[in-house]
Amino acid sequence: AIPVPKPETLLDWYDRHARKMPWRVGPAERKAGVMPDPYRIWMSEVMLQQTTVAAVREYFLKFTDKWPRVSDLAAAADADVMAAWAGLGYYARARNLLKCARAVAADYDGVFPQTYADLLKLPGVGPYTAAAVASIAYDEPAVVVDGNVERVMSRVFNVLTPLPDAKPELTALAASLTPQDRPGDYAQAVMDLGATICTPRNPACGLCPWRDNCVARLQGTPAELPRKKPK
Ligand code: ADE
Repeated sequence: AIPVPKPETLLDWYDRHARKMPWRVGPAERKAGVMPDPYRIWMSEVMLQQTTVAAVREYFLKFTDKWPRVSDLAAAADADVMAAWAGLGYYARARNLLKCARAVAADYDGVFPQTYADLLKLPGVGPYTAAAVASIAYDEPAVVVDGNVERVMSRVFNVLTPLPDAKPELTALAASLTPQDRPGDYAQAVMDLGATICTPRNPACGLCPWRDNCVARLQGTPAELPRKKPK
């Protein structure tokens, strides 16, 4: 029988292999009690939707240099924000970014809400962004599910149901692994695992901290998962 994966095993891997990102507070600093600025986490997560970490980097630095606090962004002219966004694509995200910044400034006195439930009330903030900010910025054990997490869960638990039908099942599996201890590092660890080891093609299973817990790997089928329903 294959043992169920333990979050601690992935956290040990993350302690050694966490990627460096301009908005990220690394595992050693977090253990020392340093927490990231929720404004910066929110901005990075909005930018990372449909865009790679490599492409987001320079835009994130430009935005936070121009508008260091959410109140600065809220006060910006629409045209200046749209011009700064040029090249990132999916321009509705920039409109939503500004709308949300203005809601935080006007309705929350410039202080980001601190729970998943309250973050979800913000304009343009859906379940993914609310969970990412709640866990990464506040260490709430919210369930963070993006494409990376779906791929990792589908392989570890050998979920054969095609996406999008598999979504509720994958979310429940992700919830079953989300730890009470270090949920913010754990969320970032699963996403790093999906981005660097448990990749869509040619996954580096030999380097995976969950290699002995992965049903698809032990069957030789990780690259076939997740299945996708033809559109
Ligand atoms: N992709 C989207 N958000 C991410 C995060 N916080 N860490 C790693 N990869 C990500």
